[in-house]
Amino acid sequence: MSVHEVKLCLLGDSGVGKSSIVHRFVYDSFRPAMTSTIGAAFLTKTVIVDGTTYKYQIWDTAGQEKYRALAPMYYRGAAAAIIVYDITQESSFRATKSWITELQKHASPNIVLAIAGNKLDLDDLRDVQYSTALSYADKQGTVFVETSAKSAANIPALFMEISEATH
Ligand code: GTP
Ligand code: MG
Repeated sequence: MSVHEVKLCLLGDSGVGKSSIVHRFVYDSFRPAMTSTIGAAFLTKTVIVDGTTYKYQIWDTAGQEKYRALAPMYYRGAAAAIIVYDITQESSFRATKSWITELQKHASPNIVLAIAGNKLDLDDLRDVQYSTALSYADKQGTVFVETSAKSAANIPALFMEISEATH
């Protein structure tokens, strides 16, 4: 039986739902009153799929501007990074693009990059079109999914795609 370690970090603007995505993945629940992350949080989760064990080691970084300078500490050692935006906030998608540019310059050259457009349950308030984000992600060669930490849509799929891409 094989064991795969998957070291990853989450990046993106404050309030896009990074901690909520991690909380959904690790505990399969949603806390509507999640507090803004201070510095970063470390969580682990083990998943067994078809006899393969995946051990996720997850750095959930803080999106507030004052923590911006800490980010390289988390993405430098990561095999994968998930850049999260909120589909109802165009500004958070613009921030995603600058994260991708930074990671392409400064992260490990073989890092797996994934973009997650979160809050899919708020489709009525959508401000970033699926096709716009998909064509950007395709051009950059990153994984792309739209997720909802609230409804759980595509959360397991996001982590599974990453573990497949890192091995
Ligand atoms: P920082 O820690 O400040 O960087 O923010 P974060 O990206 O970790 O965001 P967090 O997970 O704390 O979520 C921010 C707010 O968005 C909270 O009120 C969450 O309940 C809400 N939220 C997160 N994910 C979703 C989602 O999928 N749908 C909806 N409707 N709300 C969400
Ligand atoms: Mg957080």
